[in-house]
Amino acid sequence: MPEASHASYRQALEFAERQVAALVANHPDFFPMYTVGGKWHHGGESWTDWTGGFLVGMMWAFDDGSGNPEWRARAEHYCRLLELRQVDRNVHDLGFLFLNSYWPWYQRTGDEAAKAVLIQAGRTLSKRFIETGKYLCSFVGLDSLFVDIMMNVPLLLVAADLAGDESLRNVALAHCRTTRDRLVRADGSTAHEGLFNLLTGEFLRQSTHQGLSAESTWARGLAWSMYGFTQVYELTGMDEFLKVAQRNAEYWLAHLPEDKVPYWDFNADLSQPPPWGAMKDSSAGAIAASALLDLARQAESPDNSVVYHNAALATLDALLDPKYLAVDTPGWEGVLKHGVYHTKRDLGVDESVIWGDFFFVEALTKVI
Ligand code: GLY
Repeated sequence: MPEASHASYRQALEFAERQVAALVANHPDFFPMYTVGGKWHHGGESWTDWTGGFLVGMMWAFDDGSGNPEWRARAEHYCRLLELRQVDRNVHDLGFLFLNSYWPWYQRTGDEAAKAVLIQAGRTLSKRFIETGKYLCSFVGLDSLFVDIMMNVPLLLVAADLAGDESLRNVALAHCRTTRDRLVRADGSTAHEGLFNLLTGEFLRQSTHQGLSAESTWARGLAWSMYGFTQVYELTGMDEFLKVAQRNAEYWLAHLPEDKVPYWDFNADLSQPPPWGAMKDSSAGAIAASALLDLARQAESPDNSVVYHNAALATLDALLDPKYLAVDTPGWEGVLKHGVYHTKRDLGVDESVIWGDFFFVEALTKVI
């Protein structure tokens, strides 16, 4: 697939900026999760409250790229709306919330108050660590490990550095090794969830909430793993984690469909209709594209680096098509169509999802 021109990437980013500006104007102080019929949905079920950082993350990205000073003021304002979440013990998602909001704020300014929030958020996340099984437990229960948590672990590493607290780093590394050993399979595919005996720490079985089955590979889960291990390698330089990310990438690249945008689960029966069969998840494509661009910089061999980079561009180029990019869909409020949040719960199915928009924007900023 040919690489789209930089002008196309720039135009897509400008479209995303217009959509987010309209979102902020039409839904002030609101953190959207998914659309319904293309309109950002208020109220209703969210399953868990994990997505606030993505809107702020896009504001920081536009602050970097657009030269419009309003984005910085908006980003700081929306950061403050998230500040209380630094002590939220109910979710495992503090990395999603704070790495895309307070971390960019701190990186720009070195602000001590932002630093304190990041350290507190890291400490709060670390309280989910289960000593027996050596993992950070998911929000559904103490016996449950989610592959998604790999995206939150970098917050522990950031907080460990900022606070000079080695115990946070040790929790992060232990969690990564348990995820590698229990959720990442030999072929690089991933399970969504692992269940443990809480008393002994014994691993019981793989399971899922958002994928097709315990044995299947939920596309977004694999993308989370690939990105999470890539980030952990970036922050630690530890080769054992680069190897996991590369194993994930191998599976990802070998199983992508022709148009390079994944179906929601790699084991979905494509002869069946959506939502259980042939349904895309553009958000998984956007996450993976952004991860592969980073992995391309880190890869052990120049050949792998080229493969990862080209694969990322092929997916990004596919997402530029108006089939996915809402540029030709009047009234659609999101950026990318054909994302999915939770198939079984019928939440955000074949809609825009805010993390799809965020990772698409992030990937674009890496290539323009
Ligand atoms: N809860 C993370 C996800 O839906 O991917």
